[in-house]
Amino acid sequence: MRAVDIIVKKRDGGELSHRELEFFILGYTRGHIPDYQAAAWAMAVYFQGMTPRETADLTLVMAHSGHMLDLSDTVDIAVDKHSTGGVGDKTSLVVVPAVAAAGLPVGKMSGRGLGFSGGTLDKLESIPGYRTDLTVAEFKRQLREVGAVLTGQSVDLAPADGKLYALRDVTGTVPSIPLIASSIMSKKLAAGAQAIVLDVKVGLGAFMTTLERARELATLMVDIARHTGRRAVALLSDMNQPLGRAVGNALEVKEAIATLHGQGPDDFYRHCLEVAGHMLVLGGRAATVEEGRARIAEVIASGAAWEKFRALVAAQGGDVAYIDQPERLPRARLVETLTAAEAGHVAQVHARRVGETAVLLGAGREKKGDPIDHAVGIEVHVKVGDAVQPGAPLFTVHANDPARLEAAKQALQTAVRLSPEPVAPLPLFYGLVTGDDA
Ligand code: URA
Repeated sequence: MRAVDIIVKKRDGGELSHRELEFFILGYTRGHIPDYQAAAWAMAVYFQGMTPRETADLTLVMAHSGHMLDLSDTVDIAVDKHSTGGVGDKTSLVVVPAVAAAGLPVGKMSGRGLGFSGGTLDKLESIPGYRTDLTVAEFKRQLREVGAVLTGQSVDLAPADGKLYALRDVTGTVPSIPLIASSIMSKKLAAGAQAIVLDVKVGLGAFMTTLERARELATLMVDIARHTGRRAVALLSDMNQPLGRAVGNALEVKEAIATLHGQGPDDFYRHCLEVAGHMLVLGGRAATVEEGRARIAEVIASGAAWEKFRALVAAQGGDVAYIDQPERLPRARLVETLTAAEAGHVAQVHARRVGETAVLLGAGREKKGDPIDHAVGIEVHVKVGDAVQPGAPLFTVHANDPARLEAAKQALQTAVRLSPEPVAPLPLFYGLVTGDDA
């Protein structure tokens, strides 16, 4: 078999076999196939696409390119969740302990933020002492003993994806739906997931800016799960405006803590109920999503979800004094609130602009490995559909540097658009893809 023949076959619209994909992807991962051939192949896929069978095979090949975590000796069913990334998305901090408190153990390996979208590990590291580098043995022990884990990836899961993603990033081939779907799903499969709730974000602050493309990605990922013997459902959720009110690491941890105490923003709380409700259904702990949601509302109201979060933080070395008294979490020195100059109805809160402004303040990173400031970020005081009066707060900026504070205030000037006419609130969800109609 020759790499060039596989590139030509894909360039001309052919369907690659499992063997061809394995030869090419493993050859590339091991350094036998050079970057320039892999780049040509990725561009051919970008233009020609892939069939669902081909995408499932690519996913399996990438998943098996490194360590495959087996959780069957630890839990009766491994249920995972994955968000395609957004602004203010601190969902895992709430749903992992809540689902665990409702009787379904969840061990999750999360990532770091890149660009305008945040990452769970960066948020958790706002808590002094919190370890995100558990070994596989520690991961399994905590999953057994506490029932909830939120850590980073300690073993080489899907190394083919790591290498291919870096190449795609510099060759204009990230926005290919089969490549995105196989990239996400290969990591979930390698992490041992048997069932997955996918939270596919759509809108101004998401990878997928149109509902049509978000649905296409969701359908393909649900299909891949079926082809590979797993189950998945995908929620299509709004990311035109930030989720909840807090954007920035420690601010988001505080909001997650408030939510676990039943005092979070309504949109974020309802979002968590939905994601967690579906996880309970996939994990066989609830018969319907309604029942799942009710169960999650119960464990939040009773304090059981909060206690589980506390146990998780303690097990991972975090100092619980900081979550018991969240005002002790990192705080920025400069705090300023921007207000509305005129009356109106909020027509847009530009999620991407808010996310990029948080990065500018130091909450995120422009490129892998950049340091971040856990204290800085933005509180968003309005939602689309709200009526505001002159002087009403729009954003509170938390900064540690006067120049960055000024730049952030400038950037946020145009992040809210007001309309003289009433505006309907945005939905939280646009649909659900279950694959049952296939
Ligand atoms: N997230 C991933 O993990 N991979 C992609 O290709 C895009 C988003």
